[in-house]
Amino acid sequence: MEKIIIAAVAKNGVIGNEGKIPWSCKAELQHFKNATCGFPIVMGRKTWEAIGSPLKNRINIVLSKSLAQKEAGNDFHVFTSLKDAFKFCESQNYTKCFIIGGAQVYSSVFDFADKLIISEMKFEVVGDAYFPKYEKEDWSELSVEDFAEFTIHTYIRKEKLKEC
Ligand SMILES: NC(=O)c1ccc[n+]([C@@H]2O[C@H](COP(=O)([O-])OP(=O)(O)OC[C@H]3O[C@@H](n4cnc5c(N)ncnc54)[C@H](OP(=O)(O)O)[C@@H]3O)[C@@H](O)[C@H]2O)c1
Repeated sequence: MEKIIIAAVAKNGVIGNEGKIPWSCKAELQHFKNATCGFPIVMGRKTWEAIGSPLKNRINIVLSKSLAQKEAGNDFHVFTSLKDAFKFCESQNYTKCFIIGGAQVYSSVFDFADKLIISEMKFEVVGDAYFPKYEKEDWSELSVEDFAEFTIHTYIRKEKLKEC
């Protein structure tokens, strides 16, 4: 199963501030929706709390050691580890899943990710949550798509490219 990190990142690496995304960009949200609809989305407990309710037409998976699975309804699942979350997605025969943040989850999943879909916002912003620093040499760019406020860069891990 392909594990895809999807994130919107300001020019200075910021992805969040005080629990929220510190900008509003409809076109970027639409891109996120188009990319993730129909697939599982894996997120940290804090991002889950910020979103406030399950995102429609996607299997919502929350990573948490403090939230209990019994608190999960029919519309979302809770797992205490990435391994269990991925195992669940595979058991449902999904061919890909999206890791949607936040900072802590991006850091812990980075080494397992096959693909990155990064919306590079065209501005800097004050924040307290950052996208992890990564080696661009490990990744090959598959596509670039430019919008007024951001550019979408899609990368595949070089090792993965050799397998294709
Ligand atoms: N710009 C973007 O694309 C984007 C996307 C998403 C989020 N964000 C922003 O990022 C910020 C939140 O990031 P954050 O780092 O503070 O929080 P987070 O990653 O959303 O959530 C952290 C929590 O998730 C759980 N967790 C994380 N990794 C885990 C693992 N490997 N196994 C089990 N549980 C795990 C823990 O929950 P427990 O404490 O319950 O154990 C941890 O406290 C917000 O500002 C949000 O708006 C930005």
